[in-house]
Amino acid sequence: MIQKAARDFAQNELKPGVIERDEHQKFPAEQVKKLGELGFLGMMVSEKYNGSGLDALSYVLVMEELSKIDASASVVVSVNNSLVCYGLESYGSEFQKEKYLKPLASGEKIGAFCLSEPEAGSDATSQQTTAEDKGDYYLLNGTKNWITNGGTASTYLVIAQTDRALKHRGINAFIVEKGMEGFTIGPKENKMGIRGSDTHSLMFNDVKVPKENRIGEDGFGFKFAMKTLEGGRIGIAAQALGIAAGAYELALEYSKQRKSFGKAISEHQAIAFKLADMATTIEAARLLVYKAAWLKDQGLPYTLAGSMAKLYASKVAMDVTVEAVQIHGGYGFVKEYHVERMMRDAKITQIYEGTTEIQKMVISREILK
Ligand code: CAA
Ligand code: FAD
Repeated sequence: MIQKAARDFAQNELKPGVIERDEHQKFPAEQVKKLGELGFLGMMVSEKYNGSGLDALSYVLVMEELSKIDASASVVVSVNNSLVCYGLESYGSEFQKEKYLKPLASGEKIGAFCLSEPEAGSDATSQQTTAEDKGDYYLLNGTKNWITNGGTASTYLVIAQTDRALKHRGINAFIVEKGMEGFTIGPKENKMGIRGSDTHSLMFNDVKVPKENRIGEDGFGFKFAMKTLEGGRIGIAAQALGIAAGAYELALEYSKQRKSFGKAISEHQAIAFKLADMATTIEAARLLVYKAAWLKDQGLPYTLAGSMAKLYASKVAMDVTVEAVQIHGGYGFVKEYHVERMMRDAKITQIYEGTTEIQKMVISREILK
């Protein structure tokens, strides 16, 4: 039922303007509002905090369906659900849940997760943003890069270094509100893919963050980021799966209609075998994604499964979208047929929430433990 609701929403609400939004880098504001009304922005949050009280498997089904049509919209769902809401519900104080989680889970407000910096992407422990302890508040200074929902969010989870001598154990996570004095938002990035998504750098200049806005114990910030990203990676894996499946569905349909040398191109073995490879790898990616979500729902460890799902599904997304363009021939190279956008969108799934190389680092460390 949830999958069908997401599929219908993607077809009826996301598909109509998706090419235009991509072309003009337009954030899907109206659509995101409706996603909130459907309960898709706080899917795994308990009803007590205005969430939908659903499980991770339901969440990945929704991510998959939305991503078949519009990965720029689905990344908003991913960040809000699995980074921001999950992080706050799992590790926030009661005060933080009441004040910040509730409007995020209902979709009234949008959140952003701010870990990356100009000099600290994959190497996330080398945070340069500082949060100096001033007694009843922290003084935040530094720059965050590539922040999804950077301009549209109201609530920002910001990771910063409090005690450099303690290295990653001196890092904290804070809730920062848009409008706090000294907090400015840089221009929107002009991107290759997910162009409808709103990516900005953020600047903090002597921003006073009240102590009650620190998440967890002093020094918990890096662990907070890692634990939160473990679930986030399942969401991005589902996004990659959806992009692949969406491109495959279009290529399959097109191959049955387009004729060359007197028959449908799907009847040429070279094309039929491409479809066979696409269908098989998508199914394998789907099983990895569902397994990771299922493990999370069972309360079992999912670090390894989540990283495997992201590593594999993002590669499948890239491979399948390239082949989907190939199957469309010249038509695949123009915007009206959607697959060129999907090919551009697919690439980001190998970069954000831990690059392909970082997933291999996590996987190899897990299997060598
Ligand atoms: N859970 C809990 N703790 C963890 C952990 C996990 N999954 N992974 C690491 N840690 C802890 C370690 O235990 C260690 O703490 P202790 O010393 O107290 O035991 C500490 O974190 C440091 O761990 P490492 O020594 O393994 O650190 P490292 O420097 O080798 O880096 C890394 C680890 C996995 C590579 C990490 O830096 C990383 O994940 N990098 C990628 C960053 C990333 O994914 N960024 C995404 C930004 S958000 C985003 O991109 C959103 C979006 O696009 C939409
Ligand atoms: P680098 O870390 O400089 O990596 C460059 C290359 O070197 C990569 O191929 C990498 O895999 C490789 N590499 C680095 N270290 C190693 C190693 N030890 N071994 C092998 N290879 C290595 N971040 C947020 O915090 N919040 C967001 O909302 C967010 N949204 C994003 C949205 C977009 C559109 C983009 C582009 C990025 C976003 N990011 C966000 C940042 C993203 O998480 C980082 O770009 C990513 O983690 C990689 O960091 P980097 O760009 O600094 O690359």
